[in-house]
Amino acid sequence: MSDLREVLRGLEVFSGELPVFDTALLPADPQELFIDWLLAAVRDGVREPHAMTVSTIGADANPSARVLILKNVDSDGWQFAALADSRKGLELAARPQAALTFYWPALARQIRVRGSVAPAGAEDSAADFLARSPGARAEALIGRQSTPLADLASRDAAVRSAAERIERDPGLVAPGWTLFTLRADEVEFWQGDRERRHTRVEYRRTDAGWERGLLWP
Ligand SMILES: Cc1cc2nc3c(=O)[nH]c(=O)nc-3n(C[C@H](O)[C@H](O)[C@H](O)COP(=O)(O)O)c2cc1C
Repeated sequence: MSDLREVLRGLEVFSGELPVFDTALLPADPQELFIDWLLAAVRDGVREPHAMTVSTIGADANPSARVLILKNVDSDGWQFAALADSRKGLELAARPQAALTFYWPALARQIRVRGSVAPAGAEDSAADFLARSPGARAEALIGRQSTPLADLASRDAAVRSAAERIERDPGLVAPGWTLFTLRADEVEFWQGDRERRHTRVEYRRTDAGWERGLLWP
């Protein structure tokens, strides 16, 4: 165990050339800055910059988190998609609040978003489903996500059979596939710094729009 501690302590964080966060030039709307930072991560070649940790609240009131893909950001909010009867889908139906966490190590940037989550209508959810690759559609078509699986052969047989169904009927949409939109109430931008002079800016939604301020690192 002490070896592991040494290995972890020896790992570098916030290395390399990092961006400077100019807090004199903040937009009024945090979504604008979010898209700036996301596109900077894309340009920088960050792997899977659209992968984010989505935290929900379990039936036992404890947090529950997993990684999902960001589908879009528009004036309604941050979008992701999932099966309604998966663990996260059921948790969101019972308590429609979530937190998103993005981390782009090469840029030492973290973004946190908190807010309420609403499902899209059937048409938008179906359009999202049909835009997925055939393999991703087959996986979702199986359903039963987050329930116990007896063995891996059963998974493989179900994937094969779902892929055949999609081949026969390319317009098939998985029941329960849902596009969700998180409407942000808080967005925090965190820029890491080698000398640990990290810069944090928090936006909070108010009746009049957004207010923002710095946070101690
Ligand atoms: C990079 C990455 C992207 C993922 N994207 C999705 C996604 O967009 N939708 C989804 O339902 N699961 C996605 N998953 C799988 C989830 O992390 C999770 O295992 C699954 O959705 C079951 O979560 P739940 O038991 O909390 O419902 C992704 C996993 C990774 C590592």
